[in-house]
Amino acid sequence: MLVQLPNLAMAYTDAGFGTPLLFIHGYPLNRQLWKPQIEGLSQEARVLAPDLRGHGESQSVPGPYSMDMFADDLNAFLDALGVSQPVVVCALSMGGYVAFAFYRKYARRMAGLILAATRATADSPEARVGRDQAISLASTKGISAITESMLSKMFSPDTYKQNPELVNQVKAIMNHTSLKGVMGDLVGLKERADSTPTLREIKLPTLILAGANDQIIPVKEAQLMQASIPGARLVVIPDAGHLLNLENPEAFNKAIRDFLSREFVVH
Ligand code: MLT
Repeated sequence: MLVQLPNLAMAYTDAGFGTPLLFIHGYPLNRQLWKPQIEGLSQEARVLAPDLRGHGESQSVPGPYSMDMFADDLNAFLDALGVSQPVVVCALSMGGYVAFAFYRKYARRMAGLILAATRATADSPEARVGRDQAISLASTKGISAITESMLSKMFSPDTYKQNPELVNQVKAIMNHTSLKGVMGDLVGLKERADSTPTLREIKLPTLILAGANDQIIPVKEAQLMQASIPGARLVVIPDAGHLLNLENPEAFNKAIRDFLSREFVVH
């Protein structure tokens, strides 16, 4: 489905009824990332999964895209759909950086927070150099070169070896991202704020999920977030890397179900 926002046409999936769960995908992905959650959780919740600007079927407007800009898009998205009930935000990796921006601007719209394979810290100087290298790779060789450079690291080493079908699906999702989208993200990622000071301000039920073998964002980052967000729970998902929700969807969905039934009335 497509909804027209003031600044762009946004594609999304809206499935199920009950507590709204707003899923925010990572870089350079789209809402297809959430297929096992759309299928597995829409029996007990309303799953809302948009494509961020420049990703999937959403409009590819020129960047750079800041995390605040993505947060503003999501606010406009909830307005456009008439979602007035506070949502549980479930965000993976770059989606988590957007979730922190969303919290800073629109906390009143949130009932809970699920942070998956993400970190609160800003890019280190080395990571910023890496973003510049990726910008030059994307501009000279295109998105497929970015996909090639990242693909194996998106999974645990075991998933990468043992599940070529999943690896190929993710490769197709990544390759589908527009060049404007990739470039827009990279500048936004590089320039994003340090969200560490936000952590202790978070007054929402919070669940942190980390892939035991994440090669992009290690479990240590999840532990740091848990130590600072009051009352946050951490679940380490076994047999999974950065794309834990795809690599071990049963454990990922179970952790969300347990969180929802503990913290919210599930219809
Ligand atoms: C993501 O999966 O969204 C990215 O790997 C995050 C990042 O590069 O910091």
